[in-house]
Amino acid sequence: MGKRRHEALQPLSRHHHYALVVAMHLTREEQPLPDLLAELRRFWDNGGQAHFREEEEILLPAYAKYGSLDRDEIAQMLLDHVRIRSLVSRALDDGDTSVLAELGSALRAHVHLEEQVIFPLIEETLQEPDLTRLAPFFEEHRASSPYAKPEPDADA
Ligand SMILES: [Fe+2]
Ligand SMILES: [Fe+2]
Repeated sequence: MGKRRHEALQPLSRHHHYALVVAMHLTREEQPLPDLLAELRRFWDNGGQAHFREEEEILLPAYAKYGSLDRDEIAQMLLDHVRIRSLVSRALDDGDTSVLAELGSALRAHVHLEEQVIFPLIEETLQEPDLTRLAPFFEEHRASSPYAKPEPDADA
């Protein structure tokens, strides 16, 4: 039974949906390569990179106050970040399009690890009010997604 994602983590989870769409496009390689590179650049420069930093600089240090870092899944999460950053750099900085499918697979597996293992672990480990206190640090990068469905206007 899926527990609802804690509110503080929802911006990251919503952004994961965008990451999954990009990952699917990269893996399928049905679009022209320049289009895929442009899509990857838009994703990475407008939230992808910042999302990784928020997880490394805010989420994991907060978790580590109460939970052990000496776990395979935490190590895997960080290794994924390094690997994905390296593949993104090969694609965007070096123009190496041979890595796009591998990058797509890595990104999809990484999102699944976080959604199915890491975020539940953090929700179990961090109690209120520590979880809620993190909320302002996670940006709504989903707004950068061309695939996001419009939200009902909260200001209306
Ligand atoms: Fe991540
Ligand atoms: Fe993430």
